[in-house]
Amino acid sequence: MRTIEVSEFGGPDQLRLVNRPVREPGACEIRIRAVAASVNFADIKARQGLYHNGGKLPFVPGLDVAGIVDAMGSDVTGLHIGQRVIAFPQSGSYSEYTIADRNLVYALPEEVGWEEAAAVPTVFVTAHQLLTTVTRLIPGETVLVHAAAGGVGTAAVQLARYLGAGTVIGTVGSDIKLDIARQYGADYVFNYARESFAEAVLEATHGRGVDIILDSVGGDEFAENFRCLAPYGRIAVFGNASGRYGSVSGGELHGSCRAVLGYSMGTTRRLRPETLLPSVTAVLELVRDKTLKVLIGARYALEEAALAHTLMETRQSIGKILLQIAAE
Ligand SMILES: NC(=O)c1ccc[n+]([C@@H]2O[C@H](COP(=O)([O-])OP(=O)(O)OC[C@H]3O[C@@H](n4cnc5c(N)ncnc54)[C@H](OP(=O)(O)O)[C@@H]3O)[C@@H](O)[C@H]2O)c1
Repeated sequence: MRTIEVSEFGGPDQLRLVNRPVREPGACEIRIRAVAASVNFADIKARQGLYHNGGKLPFVPGLDVAGIVDAMGSDVTGLHIGQRVIAFPQSGSYSEYTIADRNLVYALPEEVGWEEAAAVPTVFVTAHQLLTTVTRLIPGETVLVHAAAGGVGTAAVQLARYLGAGTVIGTVGSDIKLDIARQYGADYVFNYARESFAEAVLEATHGRGVDIILDSVGGDEFAENFRCLAPYGRIAVFGNASGRYGSVSGGELHGSCRAVLGYSMGTTRRLRPETLLPSVTAVLELVRDKTLKVLIGARYALEEAALAHTLMETRQSIGKILLQIAAE
């Protein structure tokens, strides 16, 4: 099978197309013939050797896939050969075939097309988990989403709206992305490369600040979050796209009753896979009935994975980037 392998950590040129044998699934495993996979920011971190859940070299990158069940282990029930599915595979998804545990494979409703299906798993499920089980959004609350024109960003803005947020605010790193975040449901969008987002957020909220911040950027901007986080507010830390994590003093939390919460889907896949099912079910239904829109910003062939990574890490991508692996 054709697969993308990383045999040394480094730049996009480390993503090499190679041929590898197709593996048989174990008793509780499912082999999937991939139709499309998505590119996630964690793939870039993994390629650089900086992903906290990263594997040992050599490895196949990729966190999620949409495809067709091709073979199943003897203990697998509830699915059949030929079924359309999405999955969080244990082996990487930049590959013609991939293997996933049964509890991380989900039947795909007929009405959900391949591209939407491939784009949904990591970013929409993460956004759903962040707003529900992690920060526990209460209807009417104000939500701030950083990197709001990206994969998780466009998903989180829409889901915040759907889950009853009163006001949704986004930040983006360039003016060209301002309209994207607005189109996907943000009431206000600020370019944090150009202005202090905390000042802008305080002005937009008449000095009150926001109740929830979804922060995947970290770095110097992290401290600014506390300038515009209301009492009882929650910050979810779920990435460090800037390359650094911010730090927080207990003094920012104690008297104001505010909280900082961590989230990793990689860890959740490994330790609590069953807790993903409600979010997967919810987002697939919302995509099926067109409540949620999936923004596909770019498409590449499997062998063009390096171009896809370059687009994302130079901050030029919007929404999701897809790898088109095979025709159905
Ligand atoms: N914890 C989890 O389970 C989990 C799951 C999925 C994703 N994530 C995290 O969520 C974030 C978004 O993931 P995604 O796949 O949807 O990616 P994405 O948002 O489509 O792309 C990453 C975005 O990060 C922003 N960014 C800020 N500083 C950056 C820098 N120095 N270099 C590159 N990008 C920078 C850019 O947006 P602007 O130009 O608008 O700033 C860029 O477009 C990532 O940090 C990712 O690691 C975490």
